[in-house]
Amino acid sequence: MHENDRQPRKVFIRSYGCQMNVYDAQRMADVLAPEGFVEAERAEDADLVVLNTCHIREKAAEKVYSELGRMRVMRAERAALGQNTMIAVAGCVAQAEGAEIMKRAHGVDLVVGPQSYHRLPELLSRASREKVVDTDFPADDKFDHLPAASRAKTLARGPAAFLTVQEGCDKFCTFCVVPYTRGAETSRAVAKIVAEAERLADAGVRELTLLGQNVNAFHGEGPDGRIWGLGRLLHRLAMIPGIARLRYTTSHPRDMDDELIAAHRDLAELMPYLHLPVQSGSNRILAAMNRQHTADDYRRLVERIRVAQPELALSSDFITGFPGETDADFEDTMRLVRDIGYASTFSFKYSARPGTPAAEMDEQVPENVKSGRLHALQALLEDQRQTFNRSCVGRVMNVLFDRAGRHPGQVAGRSPFLQPVQTEARGIQIGDVVAMRITGNGTNSLFGEPVDEVMEAVA
Ligand code: SAH
Ligand code: SF4
Ligand code: F3S
Repeated sequence: MHENDRQPRKVFIRSYGCQMNVYDAQRMADVLAPEGFVEAERAEDADLVVLNTCHIREKAAEKVYSELGRMRVMRAERAALGQNTMIAVAGCVAQAEGAEIMKRAHGVDLVVGPQSYHRLPELLSRASREKVVDTDFPADDKFDHLPAASRAKTLARGPAAFLTVQEGCDKFCTFCVVPYTRGAETSRAVAKIVAEAERLADAGVRELTLLGQNVNAFHGEGPDGRIWGLGRLLHRLAMIPGIARLRYTTSHPRDMDDELIAAHRDLAELMPYLHLPVQSGSNRILAAMNRQHTADDYRRLVERIRVAQPELALSSDFITGFPGETDADFEDTMRLVRDIGYASTFSFKYSARPGTPAAEMDEQVPENVKSGRLHALQALLEDQRQTFNRSCVGRVMNVLFDRAGRHPGQVAGRSPFLQPVQTEARGIQIGDVVAMRITGNGTNSLFGEPVDEVMEAVA
């Protein structure tokens, strides 16, 4: 039978965790498309369900097993209708737990680690005959074997796209599983990143968010044979016609080099918003976390970036209740937050992860103490977020419209600071970058109206 005569098969991919998993899910869909797979809206309709998992905290990892329980029920229901369903586990739990998953959750056909997605077609065909686990770190570069999305598919994914430029992490923060699940730091070659960015731009993408577990440690081979840092890469990508905005995430404070800081001053395309996780404001805890900097190093660094880009808004991640954290340590974190002032943040209770050094440390902090500190921290951070959002009312800023709005007749976009912005103005198309005056501030979105004459638009 000819390939095209076959009924298209349907794949449903559910991603947990960070943006890198969102990007990976797209690339998995892209590698499956030539195999005749189209994307399903719901797991119930899919011949292949992929859970693209996250191992960062215990809750995230455990969610996979309850989800797999639901998938087993769904598979039985589909079987009663004469339909086959394959279940695959991908992502960081797959990498970390491998064959354990097969033992703990019956009904899984394939376990595939993040470095093997280019082998999905072959793995799936093997998985139709036997259980397959592939968690190798293969020598070949998966990116060389992952096909690009069609133009239509890229368009459908919207004008703001992710692009992975770096993977893995060599920092070994003592609480973190990423160096184990994603392996050592590697950077893609500049020419390949540029080619992918050009394809995206050609399909209508206006904003690129460069991704990496430790993205500012990027050190890719340049077309001149030299090693390029992230600052240089950003300059190159800004030259691509159609690309109006650039972002990058996630950064480590130790890897903010002079060239990257200068890019915040010199590159209009680079948005004045930076996710720069600090985790704690206590030097003692920062040392125990192996973050390799002090709280004052971080304060000084932020000051330097703010001098380069006075509009800069900051974001961060925090952990409360790391082993040994005292009330005084926690107060140091609160003080750092007050000193810096954040626009938006993520904060978590410390979760002991198997195989990480912090899980073995004495003085684990009781759950109720972790929770109490998290609540206090989140109250302060939410206050700062609201203050920042209020300060935006009355300002003019460029908004990239990327989706339909919450209510009929509305379109929605993102400010330079990643805030959602809604408008009822007519004539705005998805993909437009429009100078907007911010007129109001809701719980989760700003509201705005286009301005005709831009006096001092931000970014
Ligand atoms: N590479 C990034 C973050 C990766 S994980 C960085 O260096 O900051 C995203 C966030 O999850 C981390 O910043 C941290 O705040 C949180 N996190 C990681 N491991 C954790 C753990 N064991 N318990 C609680 N939070 C954790
Ligand atoms: Fe994890 Fe630290 Fe690496 Fe971030 S820098 S991924 S927190 S080990
Ligand atoms: Fe989670 Fe893996 Fe990302 S552990 S945060 S999905 S790198």
